[in-house]
Amino acid sequence: MELAAQLESVAIDIVRTAGKLLTNRPETLTFTTKSSAVDVVTQMDKASEDLVASYLATHRPGDGLLGEEGADVTSATGITWIVDPIDGTVNYLYDLPGWNISIAAAREGEVLAGAVYAPFLFGGALWSASRGGGAWLRRGIDSSDAPLALHANADVPLHLALLATGFSYSTQTRIKQGARIAQLIPQVRDIRRMGAAAVDLCLVASGMVDGYFEEELAPWDLAAGELIATEAGALVTNATGGKAGRDMVVAAHPSLHGEILAALARVAGK
Ligand code: 2AM
Ligand code: CA
Repeated sequence: MELAAQLESVAIDIVRTAGKLLTNRPETLTFTTKSSAVDVVTQMDKASEDLVASYLATHRPGDGLLGEEGADVTSATGITWIVDPIDGTVNYLYDLPGWNISIAAAREGEVLAGAVYAPFLFGGALWSASRGGGAWLRRGIDSSDAPLALHANADVPLHLALLATGFSYSTQTRIKQGARIAQLIPQVRDIRRMGAAAVDLCLVASGMVDGYFEEELAPWDLAAGELIATEAGALVTNATGGKAGRDMVVAAHPSLHGEILAALARVAGK
């Protein structure tokens, strides 16, 4: 099997394993705050990241690991895994279904494969992709059915577009985001705020929303979902059409993407 496809299989196995751990929610979630009072981490974020680290040490010795909760292993093989052990932690805290585990494998800064698993969304949703190998969705908790090939929605004009977005943990950024949303809402079909960046990108891939934009994402929020959306035919960039990153992520089919960039530029100027 080609390397990217091999890494996709490993990514799928990892998210399934971590998904099982996270599905067994403890009665009490203890949490601490990070960048602000609403930015939380639970004991389960840490347990999930530890599980990924020991899985890789056993099955992929020598690979590197970069994790949101502090994992930082230098790669000896050229492959580094980028993991968000719980993406959508606020959903997890409130027992809302959008939380997921997101993992990607990169070589020299290029993501080769990734998987995102949201066990309680749509009866279990496992998205995956390998570079050049398409984007796929397995539904159902055991995900034994044949995977579905994904395609982002094409030819949706902005005024009929359903857009997902997210808001920052920082109050200053939220003030800006609130003003932007007030300007955008009359120009689109509607807005969805599901609370997990990796799932939002996968929803673009699945045609379950038409587009997505959000700022202040970290590499582990973006790595797997960006590849999955791209492999489903979406364009994923920052606000000026360059590389998507912390400044901004905009994802949509190329037939809508430019219109979203133009709309964001218009509202930014107000
Ligand atoms: P998390 O749940 O792992 O913290 C919320 O809009 C989404 O953006 C979540 O996926 C959240 O990831 C992610 N996110 C990452 N950095 C963020 C930030 N600075 N502010 C808000 N959300 C952030
Ligand atoms: Ca997280």
